Amino acid sequence: MKNSDNVTFVILGGTGDLARTKLVPSLYELYKEGEVGEFDLIGTSRHDLSREEYLKQVGTSIERGKDWEDFRQNIRFSQLDFYKPGDYEDLRDELMECGDHRLFYLATLPQHFSEITDNLAKQDLVKESSKVLYEKPFGDDLESARQLNGCIGELFPEEKIYRIDHYLDKELVGNLSVLRFSNSIVDPLLTAGSVNHVQIIASENFGVLDRGEFYDRYGAVKDFFQSHLLQLLSLVGMAHPQDMSAKSIRDEKVRVLKQVKLLDSLVGQYRGYREEPGVSQDSNTDTLVAVKAAINNDRWKDVPFYLLSGKNLVRKYSQIYVEFNRSNVGYPSEEDSLVPNSLIINIQPNQGINFTINTKVPGKMSTEPARMEFCHSCHHGPNTPSAYENLLAQAISGDQRSFLRYDEIEEQWRLVDQLNPGEPFIYEPGEVPGAVRGFIPDKSWHDLEENGAS
Ligand code: BG6
Repeated sequence: MKNSDNVTFVILGGTGDLARTKLVPSLYELYKEGEVGEFDLIGTSRHDLSREEYLKQVGTSIERGKDWEDFRQNIRFSQLDFYKPGDYEDLRDELMECGDHRLFYLATLPQHFSEITDNLAKQDLVKESSKVLYEKPFGDDLESARQLNGCIGELFPEEKIYRIDHYLDKELVGNLSVLRFSNSIVDPLLTAGSVNHVQIIASENFGVLDRGEFYDRYGAVKDFFQSHLLQLLSLVGMAHPQDMSAKSIRDEKVRVLKQVKLLDSLVGQYRGYREEPGVSQDSNTDTLVAVKAAINNDRWKDVPFYLLSGKNLVRKYSQIYVEFNRSNVGYPSEEDSLVPNSLIINIQPNQGINFTINTKVPGKMSTEPARMEFCHSCHHGPNTPSAYENLLAQAISGDQRSFLRYDEIEEQWRLVDQLNPGEPFIYEPGEVPGAVRGFIPDKSWHDLEENGAS
């Protein structure tokens, strides 16, 4: 029997946005590709739904192929109120009929995590081979994250606990470590002697959609900066791990997170946010955050890192941009046409890696920039696995490398607690805010405009 056989997925929060748009569709993809063999999926919700009604809800975001009929046969529904122990007994009865490799996916607000975990343990639903997956954010702040971790740590050993940040499962984020540590020419360049600055940008061209209630509690700092941006920062900043085990990678990420110093920050809110469904009319929640940080060690001495994430900007893209120092021995008469070398990891949508160099214009003693490019989709085709497919596959196989250990989260919340950006300024949806233009070096705010980043 393969590791991927006999798996039972239990989605706590089974009718939520995440389950409908990411989890069930990703599982369907894995099923079609044969990455998941025999399986059961139990969706839970406190609503009283029939199995057919549940299937209708989770089937809406799926592009159904010929395997859909087979796939849907494996989906069950169990009504469950997180706070009613008796409902977990019903879930246990349902589980008795399913495969015994159980993955409990807590796709809920973090305030429910302790209660659910406690009930799963008390009702003895978590067996030897089971895993418990926690969506981000893990806690609301440092204090609540500590409490939560204390509570789940008393119930389950660390090997069963999978703390999620789906950015780590994006193909180009995985590629970052490969680029750095499998190519002996790359990593030596990533040091203060060569790098001028680093920009880590995640821009979205839509608002909070139907997640207003969730978002208003967290905002861009806790929703995006706290995990996605700081994880990317730690992957760029970390030293070569001793080996590629989960422990060594996490040790290095924690080391670098502990050395992060926040130098400056600002937050914004898009105009119209307060009228979004679920959002308080006098909300001061941030929908954009920009941070200037540094890593306090010899390797990264005095290299600024600019981090930005925002909703309702112009374009949706995520990118890591490393700008190197300008050459000081350029062509004497043409110095102005020299560009700084740069390394770009395009996480999405045009996945790939670019390296920009200066080249000679034929027949002239002048230069022009040229791009050396690895285009991910040209090479691997457009249908490489999505982040949630990778995440589920790795949880099934028990690979914890792209899940967070608690001490990473502790350091991330510590940094959030230190951030003191003041009141959010108001920006117009679909524009690059003036404050961002003044904060982030040119490259990124040009990219934020319509025809940028590629
Ligand atoms: C989630 C955030 O973690 O990531 C959302 O809660 C955000 O607010 C989303 O929209 C972005 O993910 P992706 O994969 O579309 O970049």
